[in-house]
This record gives sequence, C-alpha cells and structure tokens, in this order.
Amino acid sequence: MKQKEMFDAVKKENVLSYSPYSKYRVSAACLLKDGRIITGINIENSSYGLSICAERCTLFSVYAEGYKRVDIVSLMIYTNRLDSMPYPCGAYRQVMSELMPMDAKVYIVNDQEMEEEYTVSSLIPHCFTPDNL
Ligand code: THU
Repeated sequence: MKQKEMFDAVKKENVLSYSPYSKYRVSAACLLKDGRIITGINIENSSYGLSICAERCTLFSVYAEGYKRVDIVSLMIYTNRLDSMPYPCGAYRQVMSELMPMDAKVYIVNDQEMEEEYTVSSLIPHCFTPDNL
C-alpha cells in the first residue's frame, strides 16, 4: 500500500527533475516511520560535478527536516525511462550506507513499472562506516 503511495509520489515528482544535460530524469521518495514521504530529484549543473543525484537530494531533505537514519523505512528510486533502471552509483550507495539503516529496503523502478527490491547492505556490502573510525 505504502509502496503504491511511494510510486505515485516519485512519478509526480519526476517532472521536476532538472536534467538538461543528461536528460535522464530521476526522482526518489523516502518513506519514514511516521508515515511521511519525502521526495527529491536530480539537479544538474553546467559545471557537471556540482550536480546532485535524486537519492542525495532526497536523503538530505529528510535530514534537513530533522529526521535521522532510525526514522527511515525505505527509499524508492525512479526514472521515467522504459529502457533503463536508475541503479545508484557507488558514491550514492556510500551516502545511503551512512544515512539509512543497513536493512532498509531500496526499490529501483522504471516506467515499465519494473521494480527491483534490495536492501542498503546488499547494494553496498562490506562498506566503510563510522564504526570503522
Ligand atoms: N542519477 C540519479 O540521480 N540517480 C541514480 O540513481 C542514477 C543517476 C542522475 C545523475 C545525473 O543527473 C543523471 O542521472 C545521469 O547520470
């Protein structure tokens, strides 16, 4: 049920993606334990390295609203493409490992409604964490 709500949220949010360079539109939605869903998009820049991915945009907004990793249930990542899945790159996976619970679900979805389900730990096994310091 909540997954359907998350899917509706990422689809609606996707039109806001600012991706004039790659034209690859990504949106994400984070479900919180209190039932709230916070969304985000990829936002690119003509100085390419300054772009931010939809996952980081979303998770940073979650923290900016005062939530912490223990408050997070799951994250959905969506692209409106039919031919591609929005797999998060290695750097974004590292950010997810710091800001989300390792057993939180990550749903990766495209416009064919192809959906794959992972956990943070399955996406980035044996990662470097604050516990390693
Ligand atoms: N992108 C995301 O926002 N998340 C992903 O999981 C895959 C890639 C964005 C970054 C860039 O704006 C565009 O997609 C192409 O790489």
